[in-house]
Parts: sequence; structure tokens; C-alpha cells
Amino acid sequence: MGEFVVRGGRRLEGTVRVNGAKNAALPIMAASILAQGPVVLHDVPDLRDVAVMTDVLKAVGATVKRSGADMTIDPRGINQHVVPAHLMQEMRASIFVMGPLLARLGRAEAVQPGGCAIGDRPIDLHLYGFRALGADVQDGGGRTVIAGKNLSPGEIHLAFPSVGATENLMMAASRIPGETRIRNAAMEPEIVDLAQFLEKLGAVVRGAGTSDIRIVGQEWLGTCEHTIIPDRIEAATLALGVAATGGHAVLENCLPDHLPGLWGRLRDVGVRVATEDAERVEIWAPAQYRPAPVSVHTSPYPGFATDMQPQFLAFLLKIPGVHVVSERVFENRLGHSRELRRMGAQIVADQRVALIYGGRPLVGSVVAAPDLRAGAALVIAALMAEGETIIKGREIIERGYQQLAERLSLLGADIGVR
Ligand code: UD1
Repeated sequence: MGEFVVRGGRRLEGTVRVNGAKNAALPIMAASILAQGPVVLHDVPDLRDVAVMTDVLKAVGATVKRSGADMTIDPRGINQHVVPAHLMQEMRASIFVMGPLLARLGRAEAVQPGGCAIGDRPIDLHLYGFRALGADVQDGGGRTVIAGKNLSPGEIHLAFPSVGATENLMMAASRIPGETRIRNAAMEPEIVDLAQFLEKLGAVVRGAGTSDIRIVGQEWLGTCEHTIIPDRIEAATLALGVAATGGHAVLENCLPDHLPGLWGRLRDVGVRVATEDAERVEIWAPAQYRPAPVSVHTSPYPGFATDMQPQFLAFLLKIPGVHVVSERVFENRLGHSRELRRMGAQIVADQRVALIYGGRPLVGSVVAAPDLRAGAALVIAALMAEGETIIKGREIIERGYQQLAERLSLLGADIGVR
């Protein structure tokens, strides 16, 4: 495993363009399985998870070509319904191809994705939804087999607004003639991006971005060209890095409306944030943060995103006061607290709630990324810390951040890789 080596104490300053969103690109790549012919995607980030999804698509028979941030996926050769076990194990998001494969081939099969560092992450809601669409679901012995040649539209009420389940079911429903309704659907911007893609293919999708989505599927979907939305979590991470180092930066290709809860909280502690432009955010950190207790809990969109909780927690170490972070989406997503303590952070945490004693100096140390976003939190802490920090598990962090060291260096950070 590689490492990041960060010498902290430098202000981040400059302009940076946010890349296309990983979590929008992955389901949209999977949804290309539904198309009649080649689809062209723009602003696809160059990340390990995207490479794994590329391998999954190739394994089931698609042709995938990449040129810079453009990708062409030709699904016409798809004839395999089994997702190779090693790809499923490498990336949970491989589950996204189940819905499209079921709709295209009448069958999909994969090993069950395991738990991961942040929680158990079952797929029961996906399977409940497939059953509601008339599929036969066999789930046991470590394998999941979904079959159904004559699927029918249905009414699905999700017990929790799961992002992945909403996406998988939207994709399957898009090729089932008639109206499917998903209640208590996830409302994340990535859902809206997927809906727009499915609409371009010819399905009718109403209500994406609300908790009540109606899809009128078509037996045959066409082809299209689509640009992936900007990565709101990458944007949040960069913004928090700038704020944590007392910096000033412009984020381009950043949709401020996609980050409810972040800008207001930054303003509360004294950061100046300009969000008037629809696709650009400018932030100025104050010379000194004012003491202010901050309390934040994560929840599904439009709540505070669980994917920016670790980075925000690291930023809070800068703010004088006692702060509370409560994680309500995943059951074990505060693993960064332990690593941050190695850098001198004063944090008391159980699996769900952390108390952060902010405003005390951090010192460089050797830490390890427990998972992708927790790793990003360690990078933010390292940028603030005195001295050198070595962050192990660079590849884990690079699953979600393209050329992170290069881009932070351009903003003035002292960060290298090895
Ligand atoms: C997606 C994102 C991930 C983000 C998460 C929540 C992608 C590729 N990943 O993951 O970065 O952290 O949304 O915003 O887009 N659950 C069940 N049963 C299910 C499905 C989910 O109990 O069948 C639970 C999960 O264990 C978790 C919660 O629901 O506690 C949220 O999961 P979900 O919204 O499905 O997240 P993902 O789609 O896996």
C-alpha cells in the first residue's frame, strides 16, 4: 500500500476544478447496459472504482472505451448474467449492474457483497424491490440469483431511502413497460443525474429528487450522450481543506445547491462563502476561528451527507469549542477518530457519536486510512498539523479522489506520494 506524506501548516490557495462524481458515474455506467447501442459519457472521473465498473461491464460482454474523461460504452454484446466474484468483492457498487442485467437478460447473479469498514451494508432493500417487480430472488450460500423474464411494474415502498436500492430499481423499472412507483426513495443529486440519463434513453422518470419516483419503462431504450454531474463530496473535501488551513480558494464545476448543510455551517464559524454563482463557490477562511460549539448529524439527502462527515469532523478540530458529530446513516463510521487521536486530537467517540474538543494543535504522526472518506479526513488533519504526517493506505483514498496529491500541491499544499 502506498502512502501520502504531508507537511502541514501551508494555506491552500487558488482555483481548482471539481471532477465528475464517482457516485453518479458508477450507476450511470451500469445503466448503459439498458441501452440499445453505444452511449457516450463525459466527465467520467479516472478512479479505481470506475476501472472496476469498467471491468464488470466488459465481463458481461460490453465494450468500453475511454479517452480522457470521455467514455463510450457499447452494450450490444452483453450476454453474460454473472458478475465475477472478485469484482463484486473489490467494489460493492458492482451490485448496480444487477437491476440492468435482470431487465436486459432476464437474469443476474453475483456473490453477496460483504460488510465493510463502515458497517454491514446488506442488500435486502434491493432484493425486496426486485421481488416487487416480479423477479424470483434466491439469496443464500453467499450467492444472489435474480431471475424473471416477464417482469411487471410495481409499487415499492423502501423501509429506508437507500441510494443504491433506489438506483438499482429505477434502472430495472426503466425497461419494464408500465408505471413503477418507488416510495421513500432516496433524493440525492446522483439519483437525479441517473434519472436524466434514463430519460435520455427513453424512459419516463418523474419525481427524481423527491421521495416519490414514478418510472414509465419502455421495452426498448435508445442511446444517448450524457455529462456526469460534479462530485459534491470531492468539492466538500476541497472546501474543508481550504477552510482548515486558513486558505482562500475558488471551486469551479461545483454546484453549491448539492451540499446543503455545509455552507451554512462554515459560515456559522466565520468562513466567508460566496455561492451566488450556480457552478462556482469561493471560500475565504477567517484569520482566526471564533469559538462556537457545532453539532451535526448525518442523514439522507437533503440532510448532512454521511460521505462528508469524516472530513467535517477533521475540520472541527480547528474550531475552538466542544462539538458533537452523530452518524445516523452507517453504524460504524467514526473509525477516523482513533487515527486522528494519534495526531493529538481530543475526541471521545463510540460507533455513532463523537465529541470533539476543537481548537487544539495537531501534530504530525503515522496514521492509516480506515476507509475512503475517513482517509480524506486524515489528509485534512495532516494539512493542519505541525510537522510531517504519513498516511498509509493511499490507494483507499484514491478510490474517490483523482490525483489528490497533485491537485492539493497546485493549491500550495506540501504533499507527496510514495
Ligand atoms: C451510496 C454511496 C455511498 C454513500 C451512501 C449513503 C455510491 C456508490 N455509494 O452507498 O458513498 O455513503 O450512498 O449516502 O453511490 N441499507 C440496508 N439495506 C439495503 C441497502 C442499504 O439496510 O438493501 C442501509 C445501509 O446498510 C446503510 C444505509 O442503508 O446503513 C444507507 O445505504 P445506501 O443509501 O444504500 O448506500 P449505498 O447505496 O451503498
